[in-house]
Amino acid sequence: MIRPGVFISFEGIDGAGKSSHIGSLRERLESAGRTVVGTREPGGTPLAEALRELVLHERMDALSEALLVFAARRDHVQQVIRPALARGDVVLCDRFTDSSFAYQGGGRGLSVDMLRSLEQWVQQPADGADGPLLQPDLTLWFDVPPAVAAARLAVARSPDRFEAQDLGFFTRVAQAYAQRAALSPHRFERIDAQRPLAQVWATIESAVRQRGWIA
Ligand code: TYD
Repeated sequence: MIRPGVFISFEGIDGAGKSSHIGSLRERLESAGRTVVGTREPGGTPLAEALRELVLHERMDALSEALLVFAARRDHVQQVIRPALARGDVVLCDRFTDSSFAYQGGGRGLSVDMLRSLEQWVQQPADGADGPLLQPDLTLWFDVPPAVAAARLAVARSPDRFEAQDLGFFTRVAQAYAQRAALSPHRFERIDAQRPLAQVWATIESAVRQRGWIA
């Protein structure tokens, strides 16, 4: 199957500082003539945004949480991500499945095998065709010590169900990101997000340029 689009995800623990860079990368790609679809998870469609509200604010157990983020992802993949990639657009997605392995796997302690199985169902090739699962072409992983991220979050708005977690939770989330990155070293670009904004941006720009997506 021809897949001319480009799929880039942004990952990291809460407070890692990915948000402002998503906007900068969008501008950079658009000025290079690419059509960009900016989106997020959980979310990106009306159904998935409704599920996001539940996941972020309603009390539930870890398995319900995982099933809801994957249900949201299924709708998002079908309605937004696959069509955009088929048009040849660049998709910039604020979080994708690595977040589920990090938060529901590492943070909440759910089985990695079960998450892998949900990933298979949700990201399998369209129409039961053979082929690889839908995955980002590049994952920009904002890696920052959990204590630094917590200090950044402390000055932010009222926390949601994840942001309210303790340092132990975010330490497990960060470890799960590292494990996931080790399994797909070519897809992941680790960004030391403790550095000044300009240096972080330079790393992102160079990762995207190396892949030939900007000049
Ligand atoms: P985030 O994307 O950081 O948005 P904001 O900057 O508005 O807080 O918040 C989404 C939260 O959802 C974040 O804490 C991680 C969590 N999450 C999961 O637990 N599992 C997932 O699969 C995804 C996509 C997100």
